[in-house]
Amino acid sequence: MKKSMLFVLALVFVLACALPAAAETYKVGVAIYQFDDNFMTLYRNELEKYMKSLETDDMKFDITIVDGKNDMAEQSNQIDNFITQGMDVIILNLVQTSSADAIIDKIVENEIPLILINREPLGDDGDESYKGILDNATVCYVGADARQSGSMQGALIADLENHGDLNGDGKISYIMIEGDPENIDAQYRTQFSIKYLTDNGFEVEELDDQVGNWAQAKGQEIAANDLSKFGDAIEVIFCNNDAMALGAAAAIQAAGREVGKDIYLVGVDALNECVQMVIDGTMTGTVKNDEVGQSHAAVDAAIVALKGEELQNYYWVDYVKVTAENAENFLAK
Ligand code: GAL
Repeated sequence: MKKSMLFVLALVFVLACALPAAAETYKVGVAIYQFDDNFMTLYRNELEKYMKSLETDDMKFDITIVDGKNDMAEQSNQIDNFITQGMDVIILNLVQTSSADAIIDKIVENEIPLILINREPLGDDGDESYKGILDNATVCYVGADARQSGSMQGALIADLENHGDLNGDGKISYIMIEGDPENIDAQYRTQFSIKYLTDNGFEVEELDDQVGNWAQAKGQEIAANDLSKFGDAIEVIFCNNDAMALGAAAAIQAAGREVGKDIYLVGVDALNECVQMVIDGTMTGTVKNDEVGQSHAAVDAAIVALKGEELQNYYWVDYVKVTAENAENFLAK
């Protein structure tokens, strides 16, 4: 080979090495159970923002986020589309945890790593068949243990000077406003808030227990009906989340009652409005559902999977009790 030819080849080689390698763009499919949900809106916005912030010269993310509109058939179609589109990883907030098996099987069969978020299909001490799927190194659940949030709601009441017994009749009379009953968060919060009280020796009286499906308007309607039905007998309103507590707060005000004086109100999530209400005294307390910690853990897990590394079965994020004493720390900056 001529010297000049060798020189050209060497030059081409050197130039090729010097050129930056093309970035790998990963396709990320995120399916949310319903966009119209205060907490999941904060969660999904943070998830997208954080994932984008982790992009490097070598790793880019093409993120598609879809709204399941609280309809399992709709979400199932969205997952089929994700599979056809060749997503590299799927982050899934199930509409119905009872449909988990079929959906998870489909995703696993197509060898797409799966990060389940927010709606735990079953407790990790639940049905063994479920454990089998989560034991797969390409599937995990990222969330918070709803038992903890329920117990914290109970503690918010137990820690009051009168332990929630405003009329001094020796029992805490309450109404419970539940989220979607199919959802383990709703089941555990309902159960563990009261269990905390009874485990600590307090007598309780349930005046009503109704489903508000996580929605503010429904929370308001249930609280308004109960306040007119049971009047002063209601000492505590437990809401499985803050959106419903916002509704209950409006009903309390309309009924001429005053939180902290003649009624108590607790929620879960620590939405900014509710943290402000805790500071102002119009809500007794709430429990921080850490959307930042959870969304970051979900993205971190997705990246572990994209790198082809093994996932743990579960990634847990703690809840935190929010009272008038520490609420300032939870206000969005
Ligand atoms: C809960 C949250 C609720 C609602 C629900 C949706 O963790 O507290 O406000 O967002 O998830 O599954």
